[in-house]
Amino acid sequence: MADHPMRRNHLLIENVMKSYGGPEPALKSVSLDVSEGEFLALLGPSGCGKTTLLKIIAGLEEPTQGSMALAGEGLDTIPTYKRDIGIVFQSYALFPHMTVDANIRFGLDMRGMQGAEADERVAEVLDLVKLEGLGKRMPNELSGGQQQRVALARALAIRPKLLLLDEPLSNLDAVLRKNVRVDIRELHERIGLTTVMVTHDQEEAMSMADRVAVMANGYVLQHDTPEVIFEQPASAFIASFVGNPPAILLPVAQRGTDGYALAGAPFSPSSSTKSVFDQLEGRTAEMALRADQLSFADASEGMVAGEVHSSEYVGGSWLAHVAIGEHRIAVQSRDKPSHFGAPAHLRFEPSQTLLFDPDSGDRMDLS
Ligand SMILES: Nc1ncnc2c1ncn2[C@@H]1O[C@H](COP(=O)(O)OP(=O)(O)OP(=O)(O)O)[C@@H](O)[C@H]1O
Ligand SMILES: [Mg+2]
Repeated sequence: MADHPMRRNHLLIENVMKSYGGPEPALKSVSLDVSEGEFLALLGPSGCGKTTLLKIIAGLEEPTQGSMALAGEGLDTIPTYKRDIGIVFQSYALFPHMTVDANIRFGLDMRGMQGAEADERVAEVLDLVKLEGLGKRMPNELSGGQQQRVALARALAIRPKLLLLDEPLSNLDAVLRKNVRVDIRELHERIGLTTVMVTHDQEEAMSMADRVAVMANGYVLQHDTPEVIFEQPASAFIASFVGNPPAILLPVAQRGTDGYALAGAPFSPSSSTKSVFDQLEGRTAEMALRADQLSFADASEGMVAGEVHSSEYVGGSWLAHVAIGEHRIAVQSRDKPSHFGAPAHLRFEPSQTLLFDPDSGDRMDLS
C-alpha cells in the first residue's frame, strides 16, 4: 500500500443485497471495507456479481437492501454524478469521434470546468498516464493499451475519491495486459487513489491488489491480502481458484487400520506426518496439492503412485500432468518428465498441504 496515512472504511459496504427479479439474487449479502489509498480486487468467476457490486458503488444500479458510505458520507442519497467516483469499464468506451483531449475534457465539462483550468487538468492526467503530447490524436490512432490509458486518464481527471475499474485489461493481448497491469499499479503507488478493480483473472488480482475479495454466487468468501488468500485459503473453492496452476483437490481417507488412500490409490505418508492424517479420524477430507509442493521420487521413496499423461515446458521447469485414478494433478519438475504412460512416484510434505472438509468445503484446522 502507498505509504501515506490510511483511513479505514474510506469505502464501507454493509449487507448489500441485489435482486434483478430473478429466482436468485445477484448479490446475496456483501459487506466490505476499503481503506483510503487501498487497492482492492474483486475476484470471482463469471456471473458471481462483481460488475453488479461495482455498478451499485457507482450508483448505476440501486441496491435492493443494504447501505454504503464513501469518506464518511452515506451514498444512498447522492446521485451518480455527484459521487466523485471515476469509472473505467471493460470496453474502453472512448468517444470515437472525439480527440483524446476532448474525451478527457468531457467529464470536466459536465462538472462545469472549462478554459485554462481544464487545459491544465487534461495535460496533468495525460502526463500521469504517460501519454503527454498525444492529446490531438483520435482514439483509432492509438494502440489498445494507449486507449485504455486514455480511459484511465478520463476517470482520473475529475480527481475522484474512488476509482472503479471493471476488467480494465480484458481487451488487451497478453503482453499489453502485463504492461498496463504494471502501469496501473505504478500509478496507484504514485497517487495512492483508493481503487476497486473487478477481475476474474486471479493472477491479475493477486499481483495488483493490496487485498482481494474472492466472490462466488453473490457472496464474498474471503477478503484478505494476496498472501493470506494463497497460503490460507478459507475454502476448497478458493484453493482451487488461485495460484498458477491452482491447487488440485484430491480426496484423502483412512483405509484399513494403518493405511490411507489418496484419490483412491494407496498412500503412505511418512511416519513424521502421519499424525496429521490420524486426526481425520475416519473422515474423508479434500487435500489441496500445488504443483510446486510435489516432486518425483524413486519407487521406494514415493508416497503415492500414478502415471504420467503429458508435460509442458513452462520456462526453466516442466509441468507434468500425472493421473492418479480418476484425478489429474500437476507436478513441477526441473528435469523433463517421462513419456506418456510412465509410472510416476510422487512425494510431498503432508504437513505443508491444506485439508478441507468435503461437505462444507471449509479449511480444516489440524494443528
Ligand atoms: N441488468 C440485469 N438484469 C438481470 N440480471 C442481471 C443483470 N445484470 C446482471 N444480471 C445477473 O446477475 C448476475 C451477476 O451478474 P454480474 O454482471 O454482476 O456478474 P460478473 O461477476 O460481473 O460476471 P462476468 O465476470 O461474466 O462479468 C448474473 O447471473 C447476471 O445474469
Ligand atoms: Mg462483469
